[in-house]
Amino acid sequence: MPRKIILDCDPGHDDALAIVLAQGSPEIDLVGITTVAGNQTLDKTTLNARRVCTVAGITDVPICAGCPAPLVRPLVTAAHIHGESGLDGPQWGEPQVPVSDEHAVDFIIRTVMESDGDITLVPVGPLTNIALAMRKEPRIVAKVREVVLMGGSTARGNHTPAAEFNIIVDPEAAAAVFSAPWPVTMVGLNLTHQAGAGPEVVERVRALGTPLAGTVVELLHFFASTYKAAEGRPHPPVHDPCAVARVARPELVEVVDAFVVVETKGEWTSGMTVTDLTGRLGKAPNAKVATVLHREEFWDEMVDAIAALGQPGR
Ligand code: RIB
Ligand code: CA
Repeated sequence: MPRKIILDCDPGHDDALAIVLAQGSPEIDLVGITTVAGNQTLDKTTLNARRVCTVAGITDVPICAGCPAPLVRPLVTAAHIHGESGLDGPQWGEPQVPVSDEHAVDFIIRTVMESDGDITLVPVGPLTNIALAMRKEPRIVAKVREVVLMGGSTARGNHTPAAEFNIIVDPEAAAAVFSAPWPVTMVGLNLTHQAGAGPEVVERVRALGTPLAGTVVELLHFFASTYKAAEGRPHPPVHDPCAVARVARPELVEVVDAFVVVETKGEWTSGMTVTDLTGRLGKAPNAKVATVLHREEFWDEMVDAIAALGQPGR
């Protein structure tokens, strides 16, 4: 039975691959896409979700726009990684799929409350929409099957030495998500940095020869250029599809139980996901933390999804 998910995202190059993997994976039923401000402003991340769905031929999944700013702090974006549009690289045509009138927070609440308790939330951007949904309708915490998020790190951050981008954009939202009594899995940088898109991967995608594959190659080329410039990384880590892969094929993303808490007050450490892997703090584990990526199989899943969606007339 495919796992029903809502993908909450801030497209973003790796968010785009997460959308493709979610829709192209037979193990996933992509119930909805919700957008949030993060990599770029909300208008841009929402337009980008529509662009990706247009090129991927995803016409039957609702796209709902969410929060344009974090709960408390001013918005920080990531043009240095994703460009001014948030999805630089390809030449995009006019999107052919609409944005829903329903706010993302209302869509999340309605979908979860109408469900049989089988909805998994997969946030791969700042957690603003998820935190607001919890506050507006606390009952979703007991009804959501699982939260599998891309964010945080058991080690260093990327936006600051301590904090990963999705968490530091809205630490107050992240603190609410990690402290709520629902099953949370953290797919952090320590895992996603194992998912670098090297030249052999790019060539496998290019060889598919479809318009979607061509767009993905252009996205990866741009992503590679900014990651090389920003972090000296030879191969860009595709963070967000790792969270989707954890839901689709849990065996590809190994996890351990740990206590995780989000720092919101530190002058230098705000946004850090303090991860206690050895029980030093005497706190019971409140999350599963991703540790090992089965990289070859992950890329097989990713390439298969691109191939599946890229079939003309699919
Ligand atoms: O730190 C990486 C995360 O921040 C990814 O989700 C990327 O898309 C950005 O949102
Ligand atoms: Ca993202």
